[in-house]
Amino acid sequence: MSLTVISLNATDRHHDLIIAPPADGVALNGRIQVPGDKSISHRALMLGALAEGETTIAGLLLGEDPRSTADCFRAMGADISPLHAEKVTVQGIGLGQLLEPLDILNAGNSGTTLRLMLGLLASHPGRFFTVTGDSSLRSRPMSRVVQPLQQMGAELWGRQGGAFAPLAIQGKALRPFHYHSPIASAQVKSCLLLAGLMTEGQTTVTEPALSRDHSERMLKAFGANLTVDPETHSVSVTGPTQLKGQAVIVPGDISSAAFWLVAGAIVPGANLTIENVGVNPTRTGVLEALMLMGADITQENLRVVAGEPVADLRVRYAGTGDRPPLYACTLAGALIPRLIDEIPVLAVAATVAQGTTIIQDAAELRVKESDRIAVMAHQLNQMGARITEQPDGMEIVGSTPLLGTDVDSYTDHRIAMSLAIAALTATGTTTIHRAEAVAVSYPDFVATLERLCAT
Ligand code: S3P
Repeated sequence: MSLTVISLNATDRHHDLIIAPPADGVALNGRIQVPGDKSISHRALMLGALAEGETTIAGLLLGEDPRSTADCFRAMGADISPLHAEKVTVQGIGLGQLLEPLDILNAGNSGTTLRLMLGLLASHPGRFFTVTGDSSLRSRPMSRVVQPLQQMGAELWGRQGGAFAPLAIQGKALRPFHYHSPIASAQVKSCLLLAGLMTEGQTTVTEPALSRDHSERMLKAFGANLTVDPETHSVSVTGPTQLKGQAVIVPGDISSAAFWLVAGAIVPGANLTIENVGVNPTRTGVLEALMLMGADITQENLRVVAGEPVADLRVRYAGTGDRPPLYACTLAGALIPRLIDEIPVLAVAATVAQGTTIIQDAAELRVKESDRIAVMAHQLNQMGARITEQPDGMEIVGSTPLLGTDVDSYTDHRIAMSLAIAALTATGTTTIHRAEAVAVSYPDFVATLERLCAT
């Protein structure tokens, strides 16, 4: 297995990842750990900054996205220690005490940083804020949070009537509100709950299906006055509430584990254990999808750590002479929000599965860090896959051998890593352009791949 990262263009920091599996295939065996959960890392930094007293965070993701969150909150007065995976300390400044930053807050590539922060900024009376992000984030829709915040009385301005960053926010006291969100989005839900923390009265968000509930779990642990109605997918927060600093332990990110789960399911002979992975039921759609496709996955050592369920995940290649490694399936409906970030790598699995996999109700993929439907369909088709784009998903004809070629991440971290997993089963050399994007959520991805392939 030869696997190299070369810098083609040092001036704009783009890197190629070149993967050339040996003719007799890659051997994937062993135990690995994945970095801390991205969603939980953002929330721990934010709630730590807003709380009274000290918050300690063990296992924080050291990717670019949480670094953006830490930098934004430092610029508003939070004392956050240098970021280390072992321990980060946040000296909270107390709810309502964020300082007016002296410069533009930059959320980089991170939609979670920007959207969650907007709820907090809009509800901080008397302060003025400006926020922006990189070119991907500046093209992503902000109306989904700007409009309900405006219905709470918030004052926000931005391009196209507040649809796109850069945005300017004049913080003020907001009115409580019951928002019926048209989409199942944890970012929308969390933005409004964070706005509700500072708002006198009850703020409620109802969503059409349950999105990840890390905000609800962590807000409760920090002492917020929060209630959940699972029947109607509604969450209410009654403000103002003071938060108390906590000891947060961040589990491994199932969205990062997903790359190895798919690799283990499609690389002949693979036998991998991924230790300490968060298995919150709002995030385990990828396990259900792969098991529905016939993958051999077991959860071992299931436990609860700091309010989040955690397990070691073992995946073994299930193909035999008579049985394909995976079978096609349909992914749709309420399952989609529970695996939305894993669809790019599930598309790779579907190219190996026997039959035609249908992915629908996933139009949200078009407004992620890239248009993940268009990009995955185009890039995998360049490798020989047979994928038809649909407005809200894809149809993927399986059992299609992939061929190494030149592909591009479109600067999207999950596209880069999904294409690297596709390259493991491809014949010949795959060159992934702009592969440096992996650092957004998984800085050690290439090192782990190299280590696995070397053993
Ligand atoms: C996230 C929510 C999801 C997800 C994103 C992280 C979060 O986005 O895709 O990677 O941490 O709240 P949406 O809320 O837009 O679905």
